[in-house]
Amino acid sequence: MQPTITPLDATLGASITDIDLANLNEDTWAIVEDAFHEYAALVFPEQNLTDEAQIAFANRFGDMEILRDDPNAKAVNITNQKPDGSILQPDEHRYQALRGNEGWHTDSSYMPLAAKASILAALTVPSAGGETAVADMRAAYDDLDQDMKDRIEGLSAHHSLYQSQAKIGHIVETGAGYGYHDKGAPLRPLVNIHPVTGRKSLFIGRHAYSIPGMDDGEAQELLDELLDFACQPPRTYFHSWRPGDVFMWDNRCTLHAARPYDYGEARIMRHTRIAGDPVSELVATGRDARAADFVPSSTNR
Ligand code: OGA
Ligand code: MN
Repeated sequence: MQPTITPLDATLGASITDIDLANLNEDTWAIVEDAFHEYAALVFPEQNLTDEAQIAFANRFGDMEILRDDPNAKAVNITNQKPDGSILQPDEHRYQALRGNEGWHTDSSYMPLAAKASILAALTVPSAGGETAVADMRAAYDDLDQDMKDRIEGLSAHHSLYQSQAKIGHIVETGAGYGYHDKGAPLRPLVNIHPVTGRKSLFIGRHAYSIPGMDDGEAQELLDELLDFACQPPRTYFHSWRPGDVFMWDNRCTLHAARPYDYGEARIMRHTRIAGDPVSELVATGRDARAADFVPSSTNR
């Protein structure tokens, strides 16, 4: 069976059919990996993967990111339904985290090692809404005018989950990796170069908030302007889920966002997140830089 690749009606994305992700051979895997690099977002309708099959497919792309909530878990459910079957309420921490996912973002950019790719599988979907949107930051960069390209060349932004959640009125716990904020948060160039394709893309999103050398207000205005421009048609695709669908994106050159739905209904998505490559996705944090200032004096003797 040869997979069929159908480009989506956007500058990114393709739907791949005539494929069984639970039974890939090396030839089919090579086709998927090439399509991932070319299209940056892939839809695989009606796969109905088990946990194990989703993890095995994710592992084709690389190692799983360690998930803080459960370091042994390789797949987590991104869901508003609690283990006892009840639905999260607005005053609960996880509810606020899910609302945060509704802002355009790229996964783990606030961690020292940003994510390579994320894979979502729909287990339970609400009756309306709850799509997942993705936006092409390669085309967004290409489509900037030359003045803007010149303006952002060489600039970097700090990325912080503390800041992005604070903007929606949610204060997250600091420490244990999520706690990088202020000027200690990971600093990432606004223009990213893809480690495989070499293509430039805008590296922005809700976690980006402060640009060294620029006043914070001015930086926020610039970041908002870039985000508003970037996440517009024809650079966006909205996936309307059916249970069993698999949708994945390249965090190095896209942004994504969940769409609202009736929060009284259950929405259960199984998420596997592939860690970035330290060569291209690891950056120092200010915390590390400060630590380097405190080298014990004995080592200088
Ligand atoms: C995520 C995420 C979007 C969605 O799991 O990282 O942003 O549609 N999910 O649930
Ligand atoms: Mn996400």
